[in-house]
Amino acid sequence: MPYTDNYERDIYGIIAFWVQNNYDHGRFFDREISHHEMELARANQHMIQRLGTVFEKTKSKTADPSKLIDEAQHATREFQSLLVYTLDKSLRCDVIISTPQSLLDHMIREAEETVSVFKLLQSGNRVSPADATIHENYFWLRQMADHLSYISHYLDTSNYELHDQVRNMTKKFENLFLQANALRTMIRHPRKEITPALNAFNQMVIKETKALEAFKLELDDLIKQCAAVTTSPPDLLEHVAREAHHLWRNLEDQVIL
Ligand SMILES: [Fe+2]
Ligand SMILES: [Fe+2]
Repeated sequence: MPYTDNYERDIYGIIAFWVQNNYDHGRFFDREISHHEMELARANQHMIQRLGTVFEKTKSKTADPSKLIDEAQHATREFQSLLVYTLDKSLRCDVIISTPQSLLDHMIREAEETVSVFKLLQSGNRVSPADATIHENYFWLRQMADHLSYISHYLDTSNYELHDQVRNMTKKFENLFLQANALRTMIRHPRKEITPALNAFNQMVIKETKALEAFKLELDDLIKQCAAVTTSPPDLLEHVAREAHHLWRNLEDQVIL
């Protein structure tokens, strides 16, 4: 299997996860910009280049981590602004791209989360296990449900069985997201410990997210062999599998990273 999310959770590994996330978004978006939008294509290309350079530096594990975070944060903020500007134009039907508006918003939210994780790393603050798992569930379960919608978006309609399977999983993750949202307000601050209800929910999310990761990786294999009829970017499924892995691992470790 080509999947490589065995990243070490040292400072470089954490920075690399987030930088690669935004770098991949830039590459995926690049495929969906019309040739009528040369300026946007060029601005996005510039972002891919910048994020790619930071990603390479991160992988080499030689640069000073605090300088790397600074650089990664600047590049991510700039990319986030480009996406926000494009989404605004898209909502006014003023740009020719094939990326759905909610997918732009999805990428914007991940860019924003990137910046807040970098700030957390810079501050050296620790988040309590209850706060961390409530945050991770609330942020990532929406992203997981979104991923399933985008898998549908790219899958050709001729994949009837697969569409049914994806629809069922979407419903499951939408429900999990609603429950995460309910727990987020029911379990109020200060959250001194992981209550039994929160623990049971975390365990359920870990189990379902591991299954979702496995499903994404199976589909990733098919897409890479061109054996599934889809217009998905070839490594999109690997990207979203990595995010599923990230969620269940953070829940197991009870951290935001
Ligand atoms: Fe992503
Ligand atoms: Fe995502």
